[in-house]
Amino acid sequence: MCGIVGYIGKKQAAPILFRGLRRLEYRGYDSAGVAVMSLEHDSTRAHEHESTREREHVIKRVRAVGKIDELGKSLDKVELFGTVGIAHTRWATHGGVTEENTHPHIAMDGKLALVHNGIIENYRELRERLPAEVVLTSETDSEVLAHLIATYYEGDLRIAVEKALACVRGTYGIVVMHQDHPNLLVVARMGSPLVVGMGEGEYYIASDATPMLAYTKKCIFLDDGEVAEITPDSLDTYNLKDESVIKCVEEIDWDEAQAQKAGYENFMLKEIHDQPLVFQDAIRGRYNLSEGTSYLGGLNMTAEEMRRINRIVFIACGTASYATMIGKYAMERLAGIPVEVDVASEFRYRDPIIDENTLVFAVSQSGETADTLAALREAKRKGAFVRGIVNSVGSTIARETEGGSYIHAGPELAVASTKAYTNMVAIMLLYALQFGRLKRITLATGERLLNALDEIPEKMKQILSLSDQIKEIALKYKDYHDFLFLGRGINFPVALEGSHKLKEISYIHSEAYPAGEMKHGVNALLSPTCPVFAIMTKNQLYDKMCSNIEEVKARKSPVIALANIGDERVKELADDVIYIPKTMELLEPLLNTLPLQLFAYHTAVALGRDVDRPRNLAKSVTVE
Ligand code: G6P
Repeated sequence: MCGIVGYIGKKQAAPILFRGLRRLEYRGYDSAGVAVMSLEHDSTRAHEHESTREREHVIKRVRAVGKIDELGKSLDKVELFGTVGIAHTRWATHGGVTEENTHPHIAMDGKLALVHNGIIENYRELRERLPAEVVLTSETDSEVLAHLIATYYEGDLRIAVEKALACVRGTYGIVVMHQDHPNLLVVARMGSPLVVGMGEGEYYIASDATPMLAYTKKCIFLDDGEVAEITPDSLDTYNLKDESVIKCVEEIDWDEAQAQKAGYENFMLKEIHDQPLVFQDAIRGRYNLSEGTSYLGGLNMTAEEMRRINRIVFIACGTASYATMIGKYAMERLAGIPVEVDVASEFRYRDPIIDENTLVFAVSQSGETADTLAALREAKRKGAFVRGIVNSVGSTIARETEGGSYIHAGPELAVASTKAYTNMVAIMLLYALQFGRLKRITLATGERLLNALDEIPEKMKQILSLSDQIKEIALKYKDYHDFLFLGRGINFPVALEGSHKLKEISYIHSEAYPAGEMKHGVNALLSPTCPVFAIMTKNQLYDKMCSNIEEVKARKSPVIALANIGDERVKELADDVIYIPKTMELLEPLLNTLPLQLFAYHTAVALGRDVDRPRNLAKSVTVE
């Protein structure tokens, strides 16, 4: 939610900042702005000859409402030269979507500029502390913070920032610049991520590492309560008590090409097609076929500790939470450990029963989701083992857990999650196998599962080649206003994810149900105007699923079925069938979700939606 970028060095800042904002657009796209430290002639001495006139640094700012392209158009109309600057893309929290509310915010008559990601909870109270002459130009909490820093400024920008932050209650990632210090940026973090990329005589600052991948792989991740003073040649970090802090430099193993569209029309389609490859990245080197087991070293638990675990809890939000429901099936079936799944926003407020024999997995693509983070902190407080299943390297959840696994999906930039979901499922399957082999399943079962896992990428490719057929089906159904997705067993969470995807990007109302539950209410919705997407691949519940769909058909709802190649019976039940290859039941979600992603995608495109940036959503929800 909101993305911030900063640059200080020898290159022109504006193009770097703009490019960085494009990478962070997934974090918000209500409005965007840039401010650059620019060297100008002193306008009060305009009568003097140009060569004799003094030049002074001034902060120049450009802002625009709408997506980053709108800012691009505004930037084309001005000259913004300078090698130090800050930028922001906004997802509105306090105040409407207007140019006035767009960052960077300025104070001291334009001498100080700030970008902020997070929420200043006590901004009303802080507003009262500002000198009477301060006139606020926006409705934002962030502008209050800019003025508060200005109020404390007595010549040292970092000290002013520290003094202001000492009064703040809430979350922030900020970058501040001041005209009197043209070669300085001050950054600070509390609850909102901030990464500093290190180049030669230059530094890149951003909410995550993707904007800097083109320039450097060396980063430091600021921790909560840290402030850094950055010049082109130095980086000094302090805590809020003004003590110096030594930071480790970390290496990011993502590359810039992964963060580009690679010829696809948008990121979502590219990320759907990435799946066969990134799935291999997720599982590579993490299992041993001859022992029929997996090894996820990051778990950081001894075999004894693993045996002691008598309860597992998965916490996540959105698509990640549907992935965890599949994790539950796998863990219970393979390891026989009772598993609870909970959306993080509920978990954190319901006093969950957790003890030192509970293992809690926080599952998150971004690693920054506020509710998931708060829930994992709660679980830690209660003494559970807390581990992360995370995509974003160096993210807060990755840093605050005592171990876990990266899912290696690479940068995922479309708001609707696709490849990260698949890789989360893959990792949870591997964990289930690891616990399962320790507790109860045989070598033969382990081998069978791993062999089937090995075949998944090829089968995924086969499914992706059906894109045109799925597009035709999407075109046929795009004008319906309501959809039902039905599945049973392990395909119920798949139905939930398919329905979620359709809602997110096409804005069509849709619900998902376990097909066996239809008789208890949902049958009332069945009619020719309510199509049903039935996930009916051949597993132990196939016959039951067929009976359920007979009932749907009898009530004249159009049926789209997802079935296994060779299934003739389904043709009698469905108006349209998507045939896909078969796999072991436990692995079905790894395949069955892909046609649903493509169906949502083609429907949304046919309806003219902005699939990468659906309305009212953001990829990384860093506020509660
Ligand atoms: C947002 C995104 C979803 C995502 C969810 C959880 O709602 O729009 O696509 O599934 O957050 O995000 P996480 O980064 O924790 O997986």
